[in-house]
Amino acid sequence: MKIIVMKDYQELSEKVCELIEKQVNDQPKSVLGLATGGSPLGTYKELIKGYKKRAVDYQQVTTMNLDEYIGLDKSDPQSYHFFMRQHLFDEININPDRTYIPNGKANNQDKECERYERLIEEVGPPDLQLLGIGQNGHIGFNEPGTSFTSETHIIELAESTRKANARFFDSLEDVPKQAITMGIRSILKSEKVILIASGERKAAAIKSLLEDEPSENMPASALKNHKNVTLIVDEEAYMKVG
Ligand code: F6R
Repeated sequence: MKIIVMKDYQELSEKVCELIEKQVNDQPKSVLGLATGGSPLGTYKELIKGYKKRAVDYQQVTTMNLDEYIGLDKSDPQSYHFFMRQHLFDEININPDRTYIPNGKANNQDKECERYERLIEEVGPPDLQLLGIGQNGHIGFNEPGTSFTSETHIIELAESTRKANARFFDSLEDVPKQAITMGIRSILKSEKVILIASGERKAAAIKSLLEDEPSENMPASALKNHKNVTLIVDEEAYMKVG
């Protein structure tokens, strides 16, 4: 695992933007695996700035998101569909038909999981997958204990994850209890992975990721079995290492 330590969140976001832009410029038909939550917001801002300033072209790019809450409609402001449109897709020249996100409102969730996993095979897998990490080490919404061989599936969100994400909702009760997420094996299918972490809140997870043996109790540690992972952290997230 390659490790890059940046000074702060802004510098981290600029670095990730640079790597994504390079991917798209080198390979205009790239498939990008994308994440939601707070961590990639700075990166998405930089990508939008870059699109306007440097005319990066997203017309032929495909995106595949990691996860979606169960029960939220695409038009719900808390859904990850809405998040992606608001924070990236509506601001760049990507073709909305080539942006894929699991459907949290499908009538048959098992079929939706199968459909999304098939899409990863047919449309993807991503050339570059961007990941955040939960305080408990989750990637996508693969909570501790999820099998390293899991594919797209429905998961019960950990209470700590619901509490951490309550900041995006009016109250904790509004945070869905389940999500549909790419599995760990699905994520490992990507060619390259960039894992980002910022702030003291993530320091314990980053220490455990780098210093402990891989374990299903620390889902991100599965990335140690992948050949091309770059961990990009800021100084606060890295401060407990060593
Ligand atoms: C989001 C996702 C999650 C987040 C993680 C960190 O699509 O898959 O794994 O990356 O929960 O969230 P933030 O960045 O809000 O701290």
